[in-house]
Amino acid sequence: MTKRSVLLAAAAIMLAPAVPASAQGNELVLYCSVQEEWCRAMSEAFQRETGINVLMTRRSSGETYAQIAAESGQPRGDVWWGGTGDPHLQAAQEGLTEEYRSDMLAELQPWALQQAETSGYRTVGIYAGGLGFGYNTDLVTENPPACWADLLDARFEDDVQVANPNSSGTSYTMLATLVQLMGEEEAFEYLTQLHGNISQYTQSGSAPIRAAATGETAIGIVFMHDAVAQTVTGAPIVTVAPCEGTGYEVGSMSIIAGGPNPDAARAFYDWALTPAAQELGATANSFQIPSNVNSVTPDAAPRLEDVNLIDYDFALYGSSEERTRLLQRWDAEIGSLPQ
Ligand code: G6P
Repeated sequence: MTKRSVLLAAAAIMLAPAVPASAQGNELVLYCSVQEEWCRAMSEAFQRETGINVLMTRRSSGETYAQIAAESGQPRGDVWWGGTGDPHLQAAQEGLTEEYRSDMLAELQPWALQQAETSGYRTVGIYAGGLGFGYNTDLVTENPPACWADLLDARFEDDVQVANPNSSGTSYTMLATLVQLMGEEEAFEYLTQLHGNISQYTQSGSAPIRAAATGETAIGIVFMHDAVAQTVTGAPIVTVAPCEGTGYEVGSMSIIAGGPNPDAARAFYDWALTPAAQELGATANSFQIPSNVNSVTPDAAPRLEDVNLIDYDFALYGSSEERTRLLQRWDAEIGSLPQ
Protein backbone atom coordinates (compact mmCIF):
# COMPACT_ATOMS: atom_id res chain seq x y z
CA MET A 1 0.00 0.00 0.00
CA THR A 2 1.29 3.46 -0.83
CA LYS A 3 1.19 6.23 1.77
CA ARG A 4 -1.64 7.89 -0.18
CA SER A 5 -3.82 4.74 -0.25
CA VAL A 6 -3.22 4.21 3.50
CA LEU A 7 -4.47 7.74 4.11
CA LEU A 8 -7.49 7.19 1.86
CA ALA A 9 -8.34 3.94 3.64
CA ALA A 10 -8.08 5.65 7.03
CA ALA A 11 -10.34 8.47 5.83
CA ALA A 12 -12.90 5.95 4.59
CA ILE A 13 -12.96 4.24 7.99
CA MET A 14 -13.47 7.58 9.73
CA LEU A 15 -16.32 8.46 7.37
CA ALA A 16 -18.14 5.16 7.87
CA PRO A 17 -21.11 5.48 10.27
CA ALA A 18 -20.46 4.02 13.73
CA VAL A 19 -23.55 1.78 13.43
CA PRO A 20 -24.44 0.39 10.01
CA ALA A 21 -27.95 1.24 8.79
CA SER A 22 -28.93 -2.43 8.92
CA ALA A 23 -28.21 -2.65 12.66
CA GLN A 24 -30.53 0.30 13.21
CA GLY A 25 -33.42 -1.77 11.87
CA ASN A 26 -34.02 0.77 9.17
CA GLU A 27 -33.09 -1.33 6.19
CA LEU A 28 -34.49 -4.30 4.30
CA VAL A 29 -32.55 -6.36 1.79
CA LEU A 30 -35.12 -7.67 -0.65
CA TYR A 31 -34.46 -10.42 -3.19
CA CYS A 32 -37.19 -10.08 -5.78
CA SER A 33 -38.08 -12.60 -8.51
CA VAL A 34 -41.01 -11.04 -10.38
CA GLN A 35 -40.85 -8.49 -13.18
CA GLU A 36 -38.49 -5.59 -12.45
CA GLU A 37 -41.34 -3.04 -12.69
CA TRP A 38 -43.36 -4.81 -9.97
CA CYS A 39 -40.24 -5.29 -7.81
CA ARG A 40 -39.66 -1.53 -7.94
CA ALA A 41 -43.30 -0.67 -7.21
CA MET A 42 -43.26 -2.91 -4.10
CA SER A 43 -39.91 -1.58 -2.83
CA GLU A 44 -40.91 2.05 -3.27
CA ALA A 45 -44.37 1.65 -1.67
CA PHE A 46 -42.98 -0.19 1.38
CA GLN A 47 -40.22 2.36 1.80
CA ARG A 48 -42.72 5.22 1.53
CA GLU A 49 -45.11 3.70 4.08
CA THR A 50 -42.59 2.58 6.68
CA GLY A 51 -39.51 4.73 6.17
CA ILE A 52 -37.51 1.48 5.97
CA ASN A 53 -34.87 1.75 3.27
CA VAL A 54 -35.26 -1.12 0.77
CA LEU A 55 -32.21 -2.47 -1.05
CA MET A 56 -33.72 -4.57 -3.84
CA THR A 57 -32.11 -6.98 -6.30
CA ARG A 58 -34.09 -8.68 -9.08
CA ARG A 59 -33.04 -12.17 -10.11
CA SER A 60 -34.87 -15.19 -11.51
CA SER A 61 -36.21 -17.82 -9.12
CA GLY A 62 -33.55 -20.51 -9.61
CA GLU A 63 -30.79 -17.92 -9.47
CA THR A 64 -32.14 -16.45 -6.23
CA TYR A 65 -32.41 -19.90 -4.67
CA ALA A 66 -28.76 -20.54 -5.63
CA GLN A 67 -27.68 -17.17 -4.23
CA ILE A 68 -29.42 -17.79 -0.89
CA ALA A 69 -27.86 -21.26 -0.70
CA ALA A 70 -24.42 -19.81 -1.49
CA GLU A 71 -24.81 -17.12 1.19
CA SER A 72 -26.16 -19.45 3.87
CA GLY A 73 -22.98 -19.19 5.95
CA GLN A 74 -23.47 -15.43 6.14
CA PRO A 75 -26.97 -14.48 4.92
CA ARG A 76 -27.15 -11.07 3.29
CA GLY A 77 -30.82 -10.98 2.23
CA ASP A 78 -33.88 -10.57 4.47
CA VAL A 79 -36.88 -11.48 2.32
CA TRP A 80 -37.21 -13.40 -0.93
CA TRP A 81 -40.38 -12.09 -2.52
CA GLY A 82 -41.88 -13.58 -5.68
CA GLY A 83 -40.80 -16.22 -8.12
CA THR A 84 -42.19 -19.71 -8.56
CA GLY A 85 -42.96 -21.79 -5.48
CA ASP A 86 -40.81 -24.87 -6.16
CA PRO A 87 -37.42 -23.32 -5.36
CA HIS A 88 -38.96 -21.58 -2.31
CA LEU A 89 -40.05 -25.05 -1.12
CA GLN A 90 -36.57 -26.40 -1.76
CA ALA A 91 -35.06 -23.53 0.26
CA ALA A 92 -37.53 -24.30 3.07
CA GLN A 93 -36.63 -27.98 3.12
CA GLU A 94 -32.94 -27.07 3.30
CA GLY A 95 -33.52 -24.73 6.25
CA LEU A 96 -32.45 -21.68 4.26
CA THR A 97 -35.67 -19.87 5.16
CA GLU A 98 -37.33 -19.09 8.45
CA GLU A 99 -40.64 -20.32 9.87
CA TYR A 100 -43.13 -17.47 10.29
CA ARG A 101 -46.90 -17.56 10.90
CA SER A 102 -48.21 -14.15 9.95
CA ASP A 103 -51.64 -13.07 11.22
CA MET A 104 -52.37 -12.39 7.55
CA LEU A 105 -52.49 -16.14 6.80
CA ALA A 106 -56.17 -16.05 7.85
CA GLU A 107 -56.96 -13.97 4.73
CA LEU A 108 -55.32 -16.22 2.16
CA GLN A 109 -56.65 -18.52 -0.57
CA PRO A 110 -56.40 -22.28 0.13
CA TRP A 111 -53.63 -22.75 -2.50
CA ALA A 112 -51.52 -20.08 -0.78
CA LEU A 113 -51.97 -21.68 2.64
CA GLN A 114 -51.24 -25.11 1.21
CA GLN A 115 -47.83 -23.79 0.19
CA ALA A 116 -47.26 -22.61 3.78
CA GLU A 117 -48.34 -25.95 5.26
CA THR A 118 -46.18 -27.98 2.84
CA SER A 119 -43.13 -25.98 3.91
CA GLY A 120 -43.76 -25.98 7.68
CA TYR A 121 -44.61 -22.25 7.36
CA ARG A 122 -41.25 -21.34 5.84
CA THR A 123 -42.87 -19.96 2.70
CA VAL A 124 -46.31 -18.76 1.63
CA GLY A 125 -48.23 -18.23 -1.60
CA ILE A 126 -48.52 -14.64 -2.80
CA TYR A 127 -49.99 -15.15 -6.28
CA ALA A 128 -50.89 -17.85 -8.80
CA GLY A 129 -50.74 -18.14 -12.57
CA GLY A 130 -51.06 -20.81 -15.27
CA LEU A 131 -48.31 -21.85 -17.68
CA GLY A 132 -48.83 -21.54 -21.42
CA PHE A 133 -47.33 -19.77 -24.37
CA GLY A 134 -47.85 -16.74 -26.54
CA TYR A 135 -47.32 -16.25 -30.25
CA ASN A 136 -46.81 -13.21 -32.46
CA THR A 137 -49.74 -12.84 -34.89
CA ASP A 138 -47.58 -10.99 -37.43
CA LEU A 139 -45.32 -14.04 -37.66
CA VAL A 140 -47.86 -16.85 -37.20
CA THR A 141 -50.66 -15.98 -39.58
CA GLU A 142 -52.31 -19.37 -40.09
CA ASN A 143 -52.95 -22.57 -38.11
CA PRO A 144 -52.03 -21.01 -34.78
CA PRO A 145 -50.52 -23.41 -32.23
CA ALA A 146 -53.03 -24.54 -29.61
CA CYS A 147 -51.29 -27.50 -27.94
CA TRP A 148 -47.90 -28.48 -26.56
CA ALA A 149 -47.67 -30.91 -29.51
CA ASP A 150 -48.01 -28.06 -32.01
CA LEU A 151 -44.76 -26.50 -30.81
CA LEU A 152 -42.87 -29.43 -32.38
CA ASP A 153 -44.05 -28.45 -35.87
CA ALA A 154 -41.13 -28.07 -38.30
CA ARG A 155 -42.43 -24.66 -39.42
CA PHE A 156 -41.38 -23.29 -36.00
CA GLU A 157 -37.71 -24.29 -36.43
CA ASP A 158 -35.56 -21.80 -34.47
CA ASP A 159 -38.68 -19.81 -33.72
CA VAL A 160 -39.52 -20.90 -30.16
CA GLN A 161 -37.91 -19.58 -26.99
CA VAL A 162 -38.12 -20.79 -23.40
CA ALA A 163 -35.85 -20.13 -20.42
CA ASN A 164 -33.24 -22.44 -18.92
CA PRO A 165 -34.88 -24.32 -16.00
CA ASN A 166 -31.77 -23.94 -13.82
CA SER A 167 -32.08 -20.16 -13.67
CA SER A 168 -35.79 -19.80 -14.33
CA GLY A 169 -38.72 -20.97 -12.24
CA THR A 170 -41.00 -20.58 -15.26
CA SER A 171 -38.99 -23.08 -17.22
CA TYR A 172 -38.71 -25.48 -14.26
CA THR A 173 -42.52 -25.28 -13.98
CA MET A 174 -42.68 -26.34 -17.63
CA LEU A 175 -40.30 -29.25 -17.03
CA ALA A 176 -42.26 -30.48 -13.99
CA THR A 177 -45.56 -29.90 -15.81
CA LEU A 178 -44.55 -32.01 -18.82
CA VAL A 179 -43.29 -34.80 -16.54
CA GLN A 180 -46.65 -34.83 -14.74
CA LEU A 181 -48.66 -34.53 -17.94
CA MET A 182 -46.81 -37.06 -20.14
CA GLY A 183 -44.69 -39.22 -17.83
CA GLU A 184 -40.96 -38.61 -17.44
CA GLU A 185 -39.60 -40.54 -20.44
CA GLU A 186 -42.14 -39.02 -22.82
CA ALA A 187 -41.50 -35.55 -21.38
CA PHE A 188 -37.76 -35.82 -22.08
CA GLU A 189 -38.51 -37.19 -25.54
CA TYR A 190 -40.76 -34.16 -26.13
CA LEU A 191 -38.09 -31.74 -24.86
CA THR A 192 -35.49 -33.37 -27.12
CA GLN A 193 -37.72 -32.83 -30.14
CA LEU A 194 -38.64 -29.32 -29.04
CA HIS A 195 -34.93 -28.49 -28.81
CA GLY A 196 -34.84 -28.50 -32.64
CA ASN A 197 -37.21 -25.53 -32.63
CA ILE A 198 -35.60 -23.60 -29.76
CA SER A 199 -33.48 -20.64 -30.84
CA GLN A 200 -32.37 -19.76 -27.32
CA TYR A 201 -32.76 -20.85 -23.68
CA THR A 202 -33.00 -17.50 -21.94
CA GLN A 203 -31.96 -16.73 -18.36
CA SER A 204 -35.22 -15.12 -17.23
CA GLY A 205 -38.60 -16.82 -17.58
CA SER A 206 -40.43 -13.94 -19.22
CA ALA A 207 -37.69 -12.97 -21.72
CA PRO A 208 -39.12 -15.31 -24.43
CA ILE A 209 -42.41 -13.42 -24.64
CA ARG A 210 -40.63 -10.08 -24.71
CA ALA A 211 -38.68 -11.46 -27.67
CA ALA A 212 -41.93 -12.60 -29.30
CA ALA A 213 -43.46 -9.16 -28.75
CA THR A 214 -40.67 -7.53 -30.78
CA GLY A 215 -40.77 -10.21 -33.47
CA GLU A 216 -37.39 -11.67 -32.56
CA THR A 217 -39.08 -15.08 -32.15
CA ALA A 218 -42.55 -16.33 -33.09
CA ILE A 219 -43.43 -18.18 -29.88
CA GLY A 220 -42.47 -17.75 -26.22
CA ILE A 221 -43.28 -20.38 -23.60
CA VAL A 222 -44.14 -18.42 -20.44
CA PHE A 223 -46.79 -17.94 -17.78
CA MET A 224 -49.99 -16.83 -19.44
CA HIS A 225 -50.10 -13.58 -17.45
CA ASP A 226 -46.69 -12.64 -18.88
CA ALA A 227 -48.08 -13.06 -22.41
CA VAL A 228 -51.18 -11.02 -21.49
CA ALA A 229 -48.89 -8.25 -20.18
CA GLN A 230 -47.46 -7.89 -23.69
CA THR A 231 -50.90 -7.77 -25.32
CA VAL A 232 -52.06 -5.13 -22.84
CA THR A 233 -49.18 -2.87 -23.88
CA GLY A 234 -50.14 -3.23 -27.55
CA ALA A 235 -47.88 -6.06 -28.81
CA PRO A 236 -49.38 -8.50 -31.36
CA ILE A 237 -49.37 -11.41 -28.91
CA VAL A 238 -52.07 -14.04 -28.44
CA THR A 239 -52.03 -16.12 -25.24
CA VAL A 240 -52.60 -19.87 -25.38
CA ALA A 241 -53.57 -22.37 -22.66
CA PRO A 242 -52.22 -25.65 -24.13
CA CYS A 243 -55.03 -28.06 -25.12
CA GLU A 244 -53.52 -31.13 -23.41
CA GLY A 245 -53.61 -29.31 -20.05
CA THR A 246 -50.98 -27.38 -18.19
CA GLY A 247 -49.35 -26.64 -14.84
CA TYR A 248 -49.29 -23.51 -12.76
CA GLU A 249 -47.19 -21.69 -10.21
CA VAL A 250 -47.90 -20.57 -6.68
CA GLY A 251 -45.62 -17.54 -6.58
CA SER A 252 -44.14 -17.41 -3.08
CA MET A 253 -42.45 -15.37 -0.38
CA SER A 254 -39.97 -16.50 2.28
CA ILE A 255 -37.96 -14.92 5.09
CA ILE A 256 -34.28 -15.76 4.75
CA ALA A 257 -32.92 -17.56 7.82
CA GLY A 258 -30.42 -15.48 9.77
CA GLY A 259 -30.92 -12.38 7.59
CA PRO A 260 -29.59 -9.06 8.94
CA ASN A 261 -32.97 -7.33 9.55
CA PRO A 262 -35.51 -9.81 10.96
CA ASP A 263 -37.96 -7.17 12.26
CA ALA A 264 -38.09 -5.37 8.93
CA ALA A 265 -38.46 -8.75 7.23
CA ARG A 266 -41.60 -9.57 9.22
CA ALA A 267 -43.02 -6.11 8.67
CA PHE A 268 -42.55 -6.50 4.93
CA TYR A 269 -44.02 -10.02 4.97
CA ASP A 270 -47.21 -8.92 6.77
CA TRP A 271 -47.57 -5.86 4.52
CA ALA A 272 -46.97 -7.84 1.30
CA LEU A 273 -49.97 -10.05 2.13
CA THR A 274 -52.39 -7.09 2.41
CA PRO A 275 -54.80 -6.31 -0.45
CA ALA A 276 -53.29 -2.82 -0.88
CA ALA A 277 -49.82 -4.24 -1.45
CA GLN A 278 -51.02 -7.10 -3.66
CA GLU A 279 -53.03 -4.75 -5.85
CA LEU A 280 -49.82 -2.93 -6.79
CA GLY A 281 -49.21 -5.80 -9.25
CA ALA A 282 -51.80 -4.59 -11.73
CA THR A 283 -50.35 -1.06 -11.60
CA ALA A 284 -47.01 -2.57 -12.65
CA ASN A 285 -48.42 -4.51 -15.62
CA SER A 286 -48.46 -7.82 -13.71
CA PHE A 287 -51.60 -9.92 -13.98
CA GLN A 288 -51.25 -12.83 -11.58
CA ILE A 289 -54.07 -13.92 -9.27
CA PRO A 290 -53.41 -12.43 -5.81
CA SER A 291 -53.46 -14.73 -2.78
CA ASN A 292 -55.41 -12.53 -0.35
CA VAL A 293 -59.13 -13.34 -0.76
CA ASN A 294 -59.90 -9.62 -0.37
CA SER A 295 -57.50 -8.46 -3.10
CA VAL A 296 -59.05 -7.44 -6.39
CA THR A 297 -57.99 -9.78 -9.21
CA PRO A 298 -57.07 -7.67 -12.25
CA ASP A 299 -59.57 -7.95 -15.13
CA ALA A 300 -56.76 -8.98 -17.47
CA ALA A 301 -55.59 -11.87 -15.25
CA PRO A 302 -56.12 -15.28 -16.91
CA ARG A 303 -58.45 -17.24 -14.60
CA LEU A 304 -57.24 -20.67 -13.47
CA GLU A 305 -60.78 -22.06 -13.67
CA ASP A 306 -60.80 -21.35 -17.42
CA VAL A 307 -57.71 -23.52 -17.95
CA ASN A 308 -57.35 -27.30 -18.10
CA LEU A 309 -55.03 -27.53 -15.06
CA ILE A 310 -53.12 -30.56 -13.87
CA ASP A 311 -53.05 -31.33 -10.15
CA TYR A 312 -49.46 -30.04 -9.83
CA ASP A 313 -47.65 -31.86 -7.02
CA PHE A 314 -45.80 -28.95 -5.38
CA ALA A 315 -44.54 -31.04 -2.46
CA LEU A 316 -42.82 -33.48 -4.82
CA TYR A 317 -41.51 -31.08 -7.49
CA GLY A 318 -40.46 -28.52 -4.88
CA SER A 319 -38.48 -31.12 -2.95
CA SER A 320 -34.73 -30.83 -2.94
CA GLU A 321 -34.18 -34.34 -4.31
CA GLU A 322 -36.64 -34.12 -7.19
CA ARG A 323 -35.78 -30.60 -8.33
CA THR A 324 -32.06 -31.37 -8.22
CA ARG A 325 -32.54 -34.69 -10.04
CA LEU A 326 -34.73 -33.25 -12.82
CA LEU A 327 -32.39 -30.31 -13.42
CA GLN A 328 -29.41 -32.66 -13.64
CA ARG A 329 -31.26 -34.81 -16.15
CA TRP A 330 -32.21 -31.69 -18.16
CA ASP A 331 -28.55 -30.58 -18.21
CA ALA A 332 -27.35 -34.02 -19.29
CA GLU A 333 -29.99 -34.69 -21.96
CA ILE A 334 -31.26 -31.31 -23.20
CA GLY A 335 -28.91 -28.52 -22.16
CA SER A 336 -25.97 -30.43 -23.62
CA LEU A 337 -27.54 -30.92 -27.08
CA PRO A 338 -25.90 -28.92 -29.88
CA GLN A 339 -27.75 -25.67 -30.65
C1 G6P B 1 -42.35 -13.67 -14.18
C2 G6P B 1 -43.78 -13.98 -13.82
C3 G6P B 1 -43.89 -14.48 -12.43
C4 G6P B 1 -42.95 -15.63 -12.17
C5 G6P B 1 -41.56 -15.21 -12.53
C6 G6P B 1 -40.55 -16.31 -12.45
O1 G6P B 1 -41.92 -12.55 -13.49
O2 G6P B 1 -44.58 -12.86 -14.02
O3 G6P B 1 -45.23 -14.89 -12.20
O4 G6P B 1 -43.03 -16.07 -10.84
O5 G6P B 1 -41.56 -14.77 -13.88
O6 G6P B 1 -39.38 -15.81 -13.01
P1 G6P B 1 -38.26 -16.74 -13.56
O7 G6P B 1 -37.34 -15.80 -14.28
O8 G6P B 1 -37.66 -17.41 -12.40
O9 G6P B 1 -38.88 -17.72 -14.51
